[in-house]
Amino acid sequence: MDTAAQERIVRPARNILGSLRLPGDKSISHRYGMLAAFAEGTSRFANFSTGADCASTLRCMEALGASVRKLDDGRVEVTGVGGQVMPSSEPLDCGNSGSTMRMISGLLAPQQGTFTLIGDASLSRRPMERVRKPLAEMGAKITLTEGHAPVTIEGAALRAIDYTTPVPSAQVKTCVMLAGLQTEGTTTVREAVRTRDHSELALRAFGAELTRTIDSVSIKGPQTLHAIDATVPGDISSAAFFLCAASLFPGSSLVLDSLGLNPTRATLLDVLTALGAQISVLNLEEKNAELVGTVQVSAPAEGLRSTTINGALAAQLIDELPVLAAIGPYTSGGIRIRDAKELRVKESDRIALVAKNLRAMGAEVEEFEDGLDVPGGQTLHGATIDSGGDHRIAMAFSVAALRAEGETVIQGAESAAISFPEFFDLLEHVAER
Ligand code: S3P
Repeated sequence: MDTAAQERIVRPARNILGSLRLPGDKSISHRYGMLAAFAEGTSRFANFSTGADCASTLRCMEALGASVRKLDDGRVEVTGVGGQVMPSSEPLDCGNSGSTMRMISGLLAPQQGTFTLIGDASLSRRPMERVRKPLAEMGAKITLTEGHAPVTIEGAALRAIDYTTPVPSAQVKTCVMLAGLQTEGTTTVREAVRTRDHSELALRAFGAELTRTIDSVSIKGPQTLHAIDATVPGDISSAAFFLCAASLFPGSSLVLDSLGLNPTRATLLDVLTALGAQISVLNLEEKNAELVGTVQVSAPAEGLRSTTINGALAAQLIDELPVLAAIGPYTSGGIRIRDAKELRVKESDRIALVAKNLRAMGAEVEEFEDGLDVPGGQTLHGATIDSGGDHRIAMAFSVAALRAEGETVIQGAESAAISFPEFFDLLEHVAER
């Protein structure tokens, strides 16, 4: 992605007010799209993610024989291949999406044929050994280039394994589960820190049986998946930008409805509460085992306090850490982040870019191998932000810009479309000037 392709100016705001309904969760949309494309029958999804990443998943699955169409009412309709994909002569382009590449690797490893997965420059730098290793243990033939994409898979029948993930990763867990789904015997994945469990919930929704303990999931293969109709809950990681923005302005009030509140994803609400924000959750319901509800947030009159995010919390908040760090200077006591080394191998090195951009805005910040110390009580000024083509950096610093003095220029603003194409329009909608 051309990182300076599009600049966007964000002016300071005086308040955040309004109500929004956000597009469908990226993690859930990837899984619903991939499982529907693999299942028997035709599935339909309302509020499917509008992000480019989920479009990459659907395009790859189309190349593998599924059919995808947009219905007049906005729903996405996916007709699956019934458990057997078509070999694809062209490489499958995963774009910027690590979820697509890692999860599809598990889906394809037990299939017949040779498959090559490629991605953009950012994805081609991200570690893929973490999926090659468990799949190779299952007997798969996978070739990487120095640990990275292109990923070449020579499909073969696999054997079930009992695998403990060395880094907390829902993508790796899902990869192994998707291979286990198609493999004779019981495949178990164990994790030290529970990561997002959308795959477990989605597989059950598509009719698969699996068993769970506090730190493991087991799936007995082979099993067949069956089509579903579902509505994708609003994306809480996209909501994070608005929840943090609203938490910065005493007098703010923001309501987000139909938001995904899966407990493995909703830790941000606890962190904002610990920082002093007032949060209420209403109309909680369950849809295909995913919790959905309305969240109302307003900022404390005395400003946000301070917090430390480390251990299991860091893994659960991994996508929300850039925006939490970006609002750190506006808290009274600062934000301290540790045990978040994974941030360095996301779409960009998010620790380095957060530190660089906070400094550009005049903030003091200390960088660690696995985190950041962002002192509180600071005043920032507008600056030119280098998003590094990373959607979450572009959006995090658009939020920091709302409380800065003067205008901020976000370089590579188009990257927001990776997960949240509507971001800048919705920000304008709720920002009062
Ligand atoms: C995701 C898991 C996380 C997250 C990513 C989406 C998923 O990655 O950062 O945005 O949908 O499973 P890891 O599982 O690699 O930590």
